[in-house]
Amino acid sequence: MRKLYINAEHKKNVINPNIYGHFSEHLGRCIYEGLYVGEDSPIPNVNGMRKDVIEALRNIKVPVLRWPGGCFADEYHWKDGVGPKKNRKKMINTHWGGVVEDNSFGTHEFMELCAQLGCEPYINGNVGSGTVQEMQEWVEYMTFDGLSPMANWREENGRKEPWKLKYFGVGNENWGCGGTMRSEYYADEYRRYQTYIRNFSGNKIYKIACGPNGGDYNWTEKLMEIAGKHMDALTLHHYTVPYGDWGKRGSATDFTKDAYYNTIKQGLKMEELVSNHLQIMNKYDPEHNVDLIVDEWGTWYDAEPGSVPGFLYQQNTMRDAMIASATLNIFNKYSKRVTMANIAQTVNVLQAVVLTDGAKMLLTPTYHVFDMYKVHQGATLVDSFIETEAIEPYDIPDVSVSASLDAAGALNITAVNFGLEKSIEIDCEVAGMNINNATGRILTGAVDAFNTFEEPRKLTITDFPVENGKFTIPPCSVVLVSLR
Ligand code: AHR
Repeated sequence: MRKLYINAEHKKNVINPNIYGHFSEHLGRCIYEGLYVGEDSPIPNVNGMRKDVIEALRNIKVPVLRWPGGCFADEYHWKDGVGPKKNRKKMINTHWGGVVEDNSFGTHEFMELCAQLGCEPYINGNVGSGTVQEMQEWVEYMTFDGLSPMANWREENGRKEPWKLKYFGVGNENWGCGGTMRSEYYADEYRRYQTYIRNFSGNKIYKIACGPNGGDYNWTEKLMEIAGKHMDALTLHHYTVPYGDWGKRGSATDFTKDAYYNTIKQGLKMEELVSNHLQIMNKYDPEHNVDLIVDEWGTWYDAEPGSVPGFLYQQNTMRDAMIASATLNIFNKYSKRVTMANIAQTVNVLQAVVLTDGAKMLLTPTYHVFDMYKVHQGATLVDSFIETEAIEPYDIPDVSVSASLDAAGALNITAVNFGLEKSIEIDCEVAGMNINNATGRILTGAVDAFNTFEEPRKLTITDFPVENGKFTIPPCSVVLVSLR
């Protein structure tokens, strides 16, 4: 029996709901087909947005959505995506499959999507191939209230009221697909572009600078040194690739036990990355004015056989559920400084929470993790400690936990058993709280199990017994225990 110690009296920070955020790019079938089918589609929709997908995403309380990319952001020219659809310019989506992008989903549609989801928009601007003027005018178009060329154009396009927009990213992966820039060069470009991002009509923009790729600590050093005073947040991207080797990504559903544990090991690296980048940031910003945002994270395997390779469509198994829960526990732990995170990507791309096939939709194991973990959104993180055992020879812990207190006083504990053989018996010792009632929920299954369009509810959340603060987590499971 393991002890899980929780001190409900030691209240830490409020967990920013935005760490449960999402990312949707013009990539494969994420936006088109996945979220947006157009008003004339036979698939039930409201103003072109799929009803079934919106309803599923509302259930997990998506707090913030990043758009339009990704690599696509630094090729995107927003003016091509507004005005009458028949006049919108067509372009080649050179990063993702070389398909024709007809720009039928643009700024107005994205804002409509966020309104239907009830989430905050996070828009990523184009530094790599766009101009300062273009970026400045986009912000004016969206947020200026009054007479101005862009506000007038917005009204002509059917929207009189400006939108509220807080989160704006100045470029994406500018060390790679966003312009192959050196850190010093991007830092200077960032300074220049952000100067022209204005706060119009009482709207206050939170400026987000492009951060490092995984463990590129030099990028963080240089960005903070040169441009740290001009940003509200710096981003981090970390994808979980089995063995940390792009050549060994392998299948999403057909993998060995060794590949599984080596995927968990790579996923857990998120903690080291977050902690190390924060240390560098703190050196230049001891007052913690600059937040860390992990605006791309998740698993990345070979595309499903038969799918277009450039569309990054992959299935989602219990392995992905393990990565999701481990990562979200890490974000909770660092939520004082990590204020947003965006899983890549919401629908049909990489570690998606929803997959679609024509009119059919399924919820992935990763979706169910987000469903269980939504109790942490806006709750207060509390101290927790669990005794762990190492899974050898991988040198990874067998269990990870997180605990928070919600507004109604419930203590919600999320825990994951990474092991594939042994159950873990847990005895909670909670200080500072009388417990009268306990409930539990669980997601469990074979590590390579997944939902299909024929069997969409094979993996789903079920009830889980908790007695006298004691519970047993089966191998390869994620649980939510609520104590009141
Ligand atoms: O999420 C897929 C791609 O991964 C994004 O477009 C890019 O930013 C990253 O390299």
